[in-house]
Amino acid sequence: MAIKKINVALLGYGYWGTNILRNIVQNPAFGDIWLYDTNEAKAGKAKSQYSQIRIAGSYDQVLDDSNIHAVIVATPTPTHYTLCSAALQHGKHVLAEKPLTTSLAEAEELVALARAKSLVLMVDHIFTYNSAVRKLKTYLSQDQIGQLSYIDSTRINLGVYQSHTNVLWDLACHDISIINYLIDERPSAVSAIAKKNKDYDVEDLAYLFLHYDSGLMVHINTSWASPVKMRRMIIGGEKKMIIYDDIEPSNKLTVYEFDNSIAEDEDKKTLVDYRLGNISIPKFEVIESLKTCLEDFAGAILHQTAPLSDGQSALSVISIIEHAILSLQRGGEKISIR
Ligand SMILES: NC(=O)c1ccc[n+]([C@@H]2O[C@H](COP(=O)([O-])OP(=O)(O)OC[C@H]3O[C@@H](n4cnc5c(N)ncnc54)[C@H](O)[C@@H]3O)[C@@H](O)[C@H]2O)c1
Repeated sequence: MAIKKINVALLGYGYWGTNILRNIVQNPAFGDIWLYDTNEAKAGKAKSQYSQIRIAGSYDQVLDDSNIHAVIVATPTPTHYTLCSAALQHGKHVLAEKPLTTSLAEAEELVALARAKSLVLMVDHIFTYNSAVRKLKTYLSQDQIGQLSYIDSTRINLGVYQSHTNVLWDLACHDISIINYLIDERPSAVSAIAKKNKDYDVEDLAYLFLHYDSGLMVHINTSWASPVKMRRMIIGGEKKMIIYDDIEPSNKLTVYEFDNSIAEDEDKKTLVDYRLGNISIPKFEVIESLKTCLEDFAGAILHQTAPLSDGQSALSVISIIEHAILSLQRGGEKISIR
């Protein structure tokens, strides 16, 4: 039977769950909204803010309720696989927070399960729904920046240390999902080096290099150990270079025209004349990324549209990170990606 409004259960009302609930409540595609958080105080707080939501007493209550069409998983990463798998097995569409899982085998299982049951499985690769990133993609798809030469991405801050996932799963998954969205090519190899703070069990600082057959070079710097917060990506092409700075309140994209010419002086020495041309700051409408992501999820369920951040996109990100972790375990060895 066709669904008119999506009855949804949100799992987890922590830092990110609060943003998700605010957006679901405002989205008319969603009908009844349930929340389940193992921490009853958090669920109570949500209820006091949004009286219309219902609080589930257990996850089994959500799973056994055939009126609930979809589950959104915003719980700590190690819980994702079990919670997503149970939801799919009970015939519910799933939107999971990033990363979908921290194991390619588990993610492949979830993707296969969703396919077998004709259910939507999405992951919240939030930056692929970001207005600046989408504007950036128009420059690449309209071939305005020329042959891509490099991408240099920095995502560093004094982060909240997480005992269960390292900085690659927490932060680099954003950069990788953005780069996979911007370009069609996938890396053929990866190398990575990382460090653990002496008091930590997991890596809190990592440098990643993605190698592409086309010659494109990608460098990603992720850290929870930086005194400053930076969210900056530099995209270098033959014709233009673009800086995407997500910290900038309004001018998130700056486009530099670029040219270089080669001449020889009297002594036949090669002289390279680098020139930057016009600098522009494109204007674009800014829409909250989570709003667009939830619209994509709703569209996929109600109108069977193909979601952008689907299970396949999750597999690619997870595969790259798994290979990067293998590389750092082998002292930065270049690892081919199958
Ligand atoms: N897309 C983004 O930009 C973004 C940003 C932040 C976090 N995240 C992701 O969101 C997820 C949650 O992160 P967070 O920072 O909100 O964590 P958090 O610790 O602040 O919140 C997690 C919540 O889940 C609850 N919980 C734990 N186990 C549960 C279970 N089995 N069933 C129901 N509730 C349970 C906890 O009580 C807590 O309230 C992580 O996977 C993280 O990577 C994504």
